[in-house]
Amino acid sequence: MAREEAAAAMAGEEAVVASEGGGLLMEIVSSPLNLSLLGLCLFLLYQILRGERPAVPAGEEDPPPLPKMKRRDFTLAELRPYDGRNDPRILMAVNGKVFDVTRARKFYGPEGPYGIFAGRDASRGLATFCLDKEALRDDYDDLSDLNATQQETLRDWESQFTFKYHHVGKLLKDGEEPTVYSDEEEKDAQDAKKD
Ligand code: HEM
Repeated sequence: MAREEAAAAMAGEEAVVASEGGGLLMEIVSSPLNLSLLGLCLFLLYQILRGERPAVPAGEEDPPPLPKMKRRDFTLAELRPYDGRNDPRILMAVNGKVFDVTRARKFYGPEGPYGIFAGRDASRGLATFCLDKEALRDDYDDLSDLNATQQETLRDWESQFTFKYHHVGKLLKDGEEPTVYSDEEEKDAQDAKKD
């Protein structure tokens, strides 16, 4: 009798697990928002994986890497031309720092999944995980309305970019004067990167 009860209890548990799994699937499929997020993820994944394939036919060489950009600061307007279309160099700003992301053209080039950030201040989009135009501002964005979680997310992105890409300079606020970088500072920045 006890064995029968245990078997019945186990069968019941399995049914609950199965219905929970089914419930999760149903929840994803039945909500338009979840479905569109799933669609977005699959689309981004497809674009990233497609970008892994060589863009040029075998035998043709990639263009040589661009020379390292000298340290300098940028206004939003000065950043705009570096979108990988008119100029092959791609710059983007993250949390007040301008990075040269040209070597990740598969992400930020015109055909890349994150091309919307090229030549722009990507901070708000990265902080809120938003790839829509509404996360881009034409005027300087002081980001003061971001909540604590979004600010932390943004700082994480900033660290990742600092580790991975050349930090060219800072994004200037309206009316802010650009820094005059000496050759010594340029050298220090390079040495810090090597350490
Ligand atoms: C929801 C579905 C998403 C999926 C499946 C996805 C997937 C990925 C993967 C696999 C990578 C790494 C590619 C590699 O290193 O080779 C990546 C990189 C990246 N993702 Fe996403 N992502 C998604 C959404 C987003 C969103 C919403 C944002 C920002 C608004 C975002 C921003 C980025 C950025 C900026 C990178 C490149 C970072 C770098 O330069 O190293 N992703 N994503």
